[in-house]
Amino acid sequence: MITMRRNPVIVFLVSLFLDPFCHAATDTLTKGQSIKDGETLKSSDENFELGFFSLGNSTSRYVGIRYSNIQDQAVIWVANRDKPISGTDGVLRIGEDGNLVVVDGNGSLVWSSNASGVSSNASVRLDITGNLILSSNDSTDDADEAYWQSFNNPTDTYLPNMKVLIGSAELHVLTSWKSTSDPSPGNFTMGVDPRGAPQIVIWEQSRRRWRSGHWNGILFSGVPYMAAYTTYQYGFKVSRENDGKLYLTYSPSDPSELMKFQITWNGFEEQKRWNKSTEAWQVMQSQPSEACENYNYCGNFGVCTPSGSPRCSCLEGFEPRHPDQWRLGNWSGGCVRRSPLQCQKNTSNGGEDGFKAVRCAKLPDFADDHRVTSDECKKRCLSNCSCKAYAYVNAIGCMLWNGDLTDVQNHIQSGNTMYVRLAYSELATSASVSTNHELQVYDLSKSKEYTTDLSGPGDLVIEGSQVNGPDLPMFNFNCVASATNNFSEENKLGQGGFGLVYKGNLPGGEEIAVKRLSKISGQGLQEFKNEIILIAKLQHRNLVRLLGCSIQGDEKMLIYEYMPNKSLDYFLFDPEKQGLLGWNKRFEIIEGIARGLLYLHRDSRLRIIHRDLKASNILLDEGMNPKISDFGMARIFGANQNEINTNRVVGTYGYMSPEYAMEGLFSVKSDVYSFGVLLLEIVSSRRNTSFRTTDHVTLIAYAWDLWSEGKALEMVDPSIRDSCNENEVLRCIQLGMLCVQDSALHRPNMASVVLMLESSTTSIPLPREPTFTSVRASIDTEAVMEAQEIASSNDLTVTMVAGR
Ligand SMILES: *[C@@H]1O[C@H](CO)[C@@H](O)[C@H](O)[C@H]1NC(C)=O
Ligand SMILES: *[C@@H]1O[C@H](CO)[C@@H](O)[C@H](O)[C@H]1NC(C)=O
Ligand SMILES: *[C@@H]1O[C@H](CO)[C@@H](O)[C@H](O)[C@H]1NC(C)=O
Ligand SMILES: *[C@@H]1O[C@H](CO)[C@@H](O)[C@H](O)[C@H]1NC(C)=O
Ligand SMILES: *[C@@H]1O[C@H](CO)[C@@H](O)[C@H](O)[C@H]1NC(C)=O
Ligand SMILES: *[C@@H]1O[C@H](CO)[C@@H](O)[C@H](O)[C@H]1NC(C)=O
Ligand SMILES: *[C@@H]1O[C@H](CO)[C@@H](O)[C@H](O)[C@H]1NC(C)=O
Ligand SMILES: *[C@@H]1O[C@H](CO)[C@@H](O)[C@H](O)[C@H]1NC(C)=O
Ligand SMILES: *[C@@H]1O[C@H](CO)[C@@H](O)[C@H](O)[C@H]1NC(C)=O
Ligand SMILES: *[C@@H]1O[C@H](CO)[C@@H](O)[C@H](O)[C@H]1NC(C)=O
Ligand SMILES: *[C@@H]1O[C@H](CO)[C@@H](O)[C@H](O)[C@H]1NC(C)=O
Ligand SMILES: *[C@@H]1O[C@H](CO)[C@@H](O)[C@H](O)[C@H]1NC(C)=O
Repeated sequence: MITMRRNPVIVFLVSLFLDPFCHAATDTLTKGQSIKDGETLKSSDENFELGFFSLGNSTSRYVGIRYSNIQDQAVIWVANRDKPISGTDGVLRIGEDGNLVVVDGNGSLVWSSNASGVSSNASVRLDITGNLILSSNDSTDDADEAYWQSFNNPTDTYLPNMKVLIGSAELHVLTSWKSTSDPSPGNFTMGVDPRGAPQIVIWEQSRRRWRSGHWNGILFSGVPYMAAYTTYQYGFKVSRENDGKLYLTYSPSDPSELMKFQITWNGFEEQKRWNKSTEAWQVMQSQPSEACENYNYCGNFGVCTPSGSPRCSCLEGFEPRHPDQWRLGNWSGGCVRRSPLQCQKNTSNGGEDGFKAVRCAKLPDFADDHRVTSDECKKRCLSNCSCKAYAYVNAIGCMLWNGDLTDVQNHIQSGNTMYVRLAYSELATSASVSTNHELQVYDLSKSKEYTTDLSGPGDLVIEGSQVNGPDLPMFNFNCVASATNNFSEENKLGQGGFGLVYKGNLPGGEEIAVKRLSKISGQGLQEFKNEIILIAKLQHRNLVRLLGCSIQGDEKMLIYEYMPNKSLDYFLFDPEKQGLLGWNKRFEIIEGIARGLLYLHRDSRLRIIHRDLKASNILLDEGMNPKISDFGMARIFGANQNEINTNRVVGTYGYMSPEYAMEGLFSVKSDVYSFGVLLLEIVSSRRNTSFRTTDHVTLIAYAWDLWSEGKALEMVDPSIRDSCNENEVLRCIQLGMLCVQDSALHRPNMASVVLMLESSTTSIPLPREPTFTSVRASIDTEAVMEAQEIASSNDLTVTMVAGR
């Protein structure tokens, strides 16, 4: 029988009318009351219920807590997990000693909350958090004065607001089920290891299976893509509570959202949230997610690179312990030191052990933390021969490793720099030795908000915003800086319109292109991120892929896939190299650009107008396939313009349509104009911008004259004239002329362009003569001044104030 805590008459009447066969539910059970099989106790918001249930096809009955008002009533806690009741005569009640007990049909005890010193008037309440709390019935703050609570005795599920104690020793807090239908304790446990800094660990029995990396005050530094989320979205917090102890908690940004962590029966940590529209539990992330995530995959002193081939390598100064096994891909033996440490100064040559910096690393397991400065940290490591490495991480401090270096990974997103101790002889042979201790590879951050050795997510926390997500990988600023050799001249690939572009080599060998954006006026971090997320979603084989971005203070960088064959202008306008592009390749390139542009204009959700299409923005991959770059830049750089008219013209002299250059009007048709110019350039291998003959100021005018006289083939690059398909070339020239017509209305859209390119039977309309031949000839004085500067800067993108 259950009595009601609220107004009993009303509850009784309501339940009578709405649900005549069921007992009315309440959230509290007091002495003398009981819950029989079939009855439930519900949290006041009815999100959770406590009652009896069976699992799978078994008839065994368990008592536990489940979600209540959703379809998939996932079980979050089980009382009698390894002692099921056979039959439906079980009862849940407050026992004689005040504890919550489960008894079977014969009245024998199946389970007890088993707390000591419980008052005889205790009651149990199912809180809206899903916590079952046994406390004295007049206590005001239940959880703090509880005799017992399910949140302190969890099974396999970790719910928001549940506090996990971070003790002095590792705690196995959660235990997996044996199988999806057997909640008895399985092989896997999950909990927190406090050493160095708190880490979440999954154990298989006593063996470590996975670890999250150290908590750095913002996130667990070894979880892939965690850096992509803002902290509140994961919502983890490590804090000291009133009792003086440290606890780990998490809470979703939207408190009405149902979210849970679980250690699954087969050993995976899973974070799930309830998707209201699909009515299903959606997995947000699951670990270990990748071979490198398996604990110490490459053995001691080895390094695992998630995208690497092979995945495992040895730390510098180390070599495989069993080279034969290592070569076969059996990494478990790990690596050993090539030259033994000296541990003291060599009296004959004065040499001593030193450190080699390993950047962007998931730091090794089993750190000792010391409360000393970074200089002292290094000294401490050097002074004790058992010290193998050290790191100094803001918000953690000095970390020393005295044992083998285990479970190290290259981790570009949120890795840290570790200094590995090596013998003097190893240091002498290595070119990039870090003799003088230098923590910041590239430290722009004078602001206290940005940490030195960990950047990115820290400065992305913006209250109330939910734009971040796995769509936008954030790269650790310092890792990117060191990948580009600190933005060195040698790594420079070119000067784009919106900043310098560098080649970067990630640890493990992956190559990237990094665009360091020039300062963006008036655009806030939030707007910037919104734009990047949108642009990162655009994917097409003829667009350069955006891999992520990196932000530190005012510095913003975009990270792209690396294109080994540079850009189209590099081949097209170099007399030595134009011969490498035969007509068939050129035609493929034209088609590729057209398809990429069509995607931007029509097929992507965003309908992007590129505004700066030109040969140097067409990059070439290893198969010489064209990929449009710098798309979406106009959105980032022109945030305050309206859709059709702008007073800032972004574009490149020679590729700008008349209406855009003169009036600042742009539309998809201005891109079509630029495409037309590009087409004529590809056919002729001549730049529109630098075109000069005695009779013609521009390539367009030259092309028109030849075409109208029926001599269009004369403009074709001599190196391909003999080998080309004349019909295709002529169609391309005509199409180019069609695209560069003065009036935007007369130009075809990209869908028609693609059609005309792909089908040789589609007729191409006759173009009108372009009369707009030079930007300089047509615009007023102020703009002319600027345009001259533009012209002298050759192919650079310009931003100018258009004359009105
Ligand atoms: C439960 O029973 C159904 C129908 O007999 C069967 O298809 C299914 O495999 C069973 N599930 C389990 C976990 O035994
Ligand atoms: C109750 O006890 C009887 C006799 O000991 C036993 O046969 C029966 O299985 C028990 N029932 C339950 C539900 O444990
Ligand atoms: C209850 O606690 C005592 C000691 O605190 C322990 O010996 C006993 O095994 C526990 N019983 C159950 C059912 O957990
Ligand atoms: C309940 O028990 C506690 C502890 O034994 C006692 O302090 C309190 O007065 C009791 N409350 C009631 C209403 O009996
Ligand atoms: C608390 O316990 C006392 C003594 O058992 C009982 O009289 C009282 O009704 C209980 N109060 C509530 C709110 O359940
Ligand atoms: C748990 O461990 C036992 C003994 O090692 C093994 O037989 C069983 O397959 C394991 N179960 C899972 C789910 O890994
Ligand atoms: C729910 O699922 C749908 C379909 O997978 C997805 O589009 C939507 O974004 C999801 N909602 C949330 C809040 O994740
Ligand atoms: C892998 O190498 C270790 C030595 O490092 C060896 O003991 C083990 O047997 C090897 N495993 C396999 C599957 O060959
Ligand atoms: C000390 O330096 C000398 C001269 O370079 C070298 O031969 C010797 O091996 C060094 N000793 C050690 C322990 O490295
Ligand atoms: C060196 O460090 C180890 C491990 O922390 C410690 O046991 C040992 O006492 C230290 N030795 C010295 C000389 O400080
Ligand atoms: C990187 O560049 C910054 C700023 O130019 C400079 O202060 C720093 O010394 C450089 N670091 C390295 C390792 O070159
Ligand atoms: C393009 O790049 C690939 C891979 O780097 C290279 O093998 C090939 O020679 C390059 N092609 C040209 C035309 O340079």
